[in-house]
Amino acid sequence: MRHLLDTKTLSRADALRILDVAEDMADTQQREVKKLPTLRGKTVVNLFFEDSTRTRISFEAAAKRLSADVINFSAKGSSVSKGESLQDTAQTLQAMGADAVVIRHSASGAPRTLAGSGWISAGVVNAGDGTHEHPTQALLDAFTMRKRRHGAGSRGQDLAGLRVTIVGDILHSRVARSNVWLLHTLGAQVRLVAPPTLVPQDVSAWPVHVGYDLDAAIAEGSDVVMMLRIQTERMHAAFFPTEREYSRYWGLDPERFAALGEGTMIMHPGPMNRGLEICSQAADSAQSTVLDQVTNGVSVRMAALYLLLAGERTATAPIDAHTN
Ligand code: CP
Repeated sequence: MRHLLDTKTLSRADALRILDVAEDMADTQQREVKKLPTLRGKTVVNLFFEDSTRTRISFEAAAKRLSADVINFSAKGSSVSKGESLQDTAQTLQAMGADAVVIRHSASGAPRTLAGSGWISAGVVNAGDGTHEHPTQALLDAFTMRKRRHGAGSRGQDLAGLRVTIVGDILHSRVARSNVWLLHTLGAQVRLVAPPTLVPQDVSAWPVHVGYDLDAAIAEGSDVVMMLRIQTERMHAAFFPTEREYSRYWGLDPERFAALGEGTMIMHPGPMNRGLEICSQAADSAQSTVLDQVTNGVSVRMAALYLLLAGERTATAPIDAHTN
């Protein structure tokens, strides 16, 4: 794997390979010594032009657990504020020896531009670009669904027949887009529920069912309900339901939480707006996978970095073959 830019073009075989390698990585994280020497001598640059807690720290933890050196770059406080371009920033980091660049950017397509530009030779991982995609989030979500569904027998399994309902601000959500494509590739049935003003215009080309009534969707039943964050920072006020309207009609409040089947998994990529799109009872319940998603994110990102930076020489060898 040269780059990881999206899930729309990720093959089923590559998706399952990442999930299966992530299983191996998760096993190594149960050991007393979590660190593997696999990427010793490699340098991973976290290039973040937008804020992040989970994704940036998770990539840092993943790279360090594989013994890579990590350089964290945040646009805030850097020469980007003096007008330095993406090209010059990336080339500066490449000159410091980056083998992989993990990039989050407000512009949809920035990771693909970087990967195809010839400015750098490093592998590129998309850590979220505008409203386009967030592939490692979808992979960690799929990993979490698969783990809850199949437990120890997860390896090699897809998500055939799993009924997943994604609720909220679809319009601005790169998490929703990446999940839709990956879940479809893995055989799940995806339904979107959102205010009509927060559904993308091109949704008819997506492999999903679309509805606007959360209570009706809950009554029909789902194996997974994924609540999305309301992205007020990307919202045009004129098109947004008020917060009160939003939580009344599309929030997972205590009544709707009680109406979900006990076996329904409740997911949220974080950060959560508690009391707006999700109530604390749901977020902190046994059905919630919010913290499992964070834990699994490290294993999935270890797998992505491993396949990017060591994948060719390890195509047939187990991870422990490189623990010398
Ligand atoms: N889910 C997610 O991308 O969270 P952060 O913005 O904290 O990285």
